[in-house]
Amino acid sequence: MKTYNVAVAGATGAVGNEMISVLEERDFPVKNLILLASSRSVGKTLSFKGKSVKVQELKEDSFKGIDIGLFSPGGSVSMKFAPIAAASGCVVIDNTSAFRMDPDVPLVVPEVNEHAIAGYKSKGIIANPNCSTIQMVVVLKPLHDFAKIKRVVVSTYQAVSGTGMKAIKELEQQVLNIYNARKVEIKVYPHQIAFNCLPHIDSFLDNGYTKEEMKMVNETKKIMEDYNIAVTATTVRVPVFYGHSESVNIEFEKEITPAKARALLKKAPGVKVVDDPSKNKYPLAINAAGKDDTFVGRIRRDETISHGLNMWIVADNIRKGAALNAVQIAEALIRKYL
Ligand code: A2P
Repeated sequence: MKTYNVAVAGATGAVGNEMISVLEERDFPVKNLILLASSRSVGKTLSFKGKSVKVQELKEDSFKGIDIGLFSPGGSVSMKFAPIAAASGCVVIDNTSAFRMDPDVPLVVPEVNEHAIAGYKSKGIIANPNCSTIQMVVVLKPLHDFAKIKRVVVSTYQAVSGTGMKAIKELEQQVLNIYNARKVEIKVYPHQIAFNCLPHIDSFLDNGYTKEEMKMVNETKKIMEDYNIAVTATTVRVPVFYGHSESVNIEFEKEITPAKARALLKKAPGVKVVDDPSKNKYPLAINAAGKDDTFVGRIRRDETISHGLNMWIVADNIRKGAALNAVQIAEALIRKYL
């Protein structure tokens, strides 16, 4: 079996760490694994398949002989280093927002638009979508194919792990400080996140939306390859460590019953229907954490419009929302192209 030299850029981060675990769990055919981070992490080691691997500093010459680069080192670092890696023949799968809307870079969720990977040849980069977008489109796709989506109204309840390690520590620390009657320190978010909800993810734009909200709007259209789907989003950070939840209202062109939606979603790849409210069964962030599937439930009619459904969609933002999706792209890449 062919094996590949793989680099993980941002290996010490929340997503980078998970990328290493997912490569190991899925037995990705790795020849050599190179772990890259900032100079601060030189000297650290991380474990892969029972061996400890030294973290190296991400530099311009880090990608010689590397076949696949899984990137999650932050947008500005990816912006600089992804083209450098691509120029040395490495195919970059980038988890940041740096290249997602570049028309020459495919934006891929394998269950939805795997065929778009073919476009990687143009720049040597494939973009991994925003975590909230990924879990929404794996559910939207089979419904769109059946009844054509006109409009989506989504509100998110997003875990702090999406912001990275610093935010995981900040929530932990704030909770501890509050229980110990100590002063709360606020560094990562503009306000206390413990016991709070912040209707503010990423920076605000001139139209009053945040960048995170506009990512959901624009990325959904690009991945679904349908620029007529109207999307409006409110993205909220909540004091949950792992797992994003979303309340999604969908208006369709054609009739679709909740039963039909459930039947379509039961067959959809990467989706699990958890929808038995009489037994208190619906998707929960704490159950989705650590899992690969996207969970959907609370499927019901929107009784205020002719063809509408409401639902609740939950997934592990670090796995399907980031590391797992990236490794699935790599798997499709080697299956068809490398
Ligand atoms: P480091 O741990 O050395 O700072 P997270 O999103 O969880 O905060 O993780 C961000 C990841 O990106 C970490 O692995 C971090 O490494 C890495 N990173 C941040 N800045 C740089 C940089 N300038 N060069 C290389 N890696 C970086």
